[in-house]
Amino acid sequence: MIFILFALFSILSHLVSCEVLSPSHNYNVTLPEPNAPYVAGQMLPISYTLPDDTNLPNLLQLSVLFTTQDPTLNFTDITITSNADISQGFSFRRTHNMYVYYEHQLSYAIPNSTLPGNYIVLFVDSVSKSNTSVSILVRPYAAPVTTIPTNTNKARPSGGGSIFAMHNNEASAKSSSQSVLLVAIVCCFLLTL
Ligand SMILES: *[C@@H]1O[C@H](CO)[C@@H](O)[C@H](O)[C@H]1NC(C)=O
Ligand SMILES: *[C@@H]1O[C@H](CO)[C@@H](O)[C@H](O)[C@H]1NC(C)=O
Ligand SMILES: *[C@@H]1O[C@H](CO)[C@@H](O)[C@H](O)[C@H]1NC(C)=O
Ligand SMILES: *[C@@H]1O[C@H](CO)[C@@H](O)[C@H](O)[C@H]1NC(C)=O
Repeated sequence: MIFILFALFSILSHLVSCEVLSPSHNYNVTLPEPNAPYVAGQMLPISYTLPDDTNLPNLLQLSVLFTTQDPTLNFTDITITSNADISQGFSFRRTHNMYVYYEHQLSYAIPNSTLPGNYIVLFVDSVSKSNTSVSILVRPYAAPVTTIPTNTNKARPSGGGSIFAMHNNEASAKSSSQSVLLVAIVCCFLLTL
């Protein structure tokens, strides 16, 4: 039982912190969320964390690409950045239980014309010559919904009092059904005696 609870807990905590570790351990990808759906025409959030290491510029040179392994999508790779910011300035500094790291964020507008399907956000480190890929799902572009102004007065029945009357009816219906239930319970109780 305890083991099951522990397993559940570890699965849950794993789901909550969905960071993807790089093979070189010189950065983690915290966004996009693996296998999460994003929408063409909308922003794709990208976020990565860096260790507190003054030698990092010699260890890491990061590009971020938007790509796919599905040839039917007729998609040519897009370079989101060929030189991702790995600076360790104060504004990027974060601490977690005394552990210091740095966090950078990017935002990429997925082109409207992107066909729906499975895509990859690919982190390429040209120093360690290793890649980190995060699969995402792209949903089709949807034009922004234009709200049609409706005449709200027309939709309502005339006379403001009717709204209150309806509420009163509802309330009394509820209380009467509750009293029926109460009587039924009392009857059952009496019968069992
Ligand atoms: C990356 O994730 C691992 C495992 O959660 C952690 O030990 C490490 O400190 C993280 N590194 C950064 C730079 O966030
Ligand atoms: C693939 O994309 C190119 C350019 O974006 C276009 O010219 C071509 O017609 C597309 N092919 C298919 C099969 O959709
Ligand atoms: C990393 O990705 C780039 C770009 O797609 C590719 O050219 C390179 O071969 C990949 N490297 C590894 C180690 O997979
Ligand atoms: C994509 O769609 C948005 C919202 O409808 C529009 O403002 C924008 O101009 C479109 N971009 C392109 C490249 O068509």
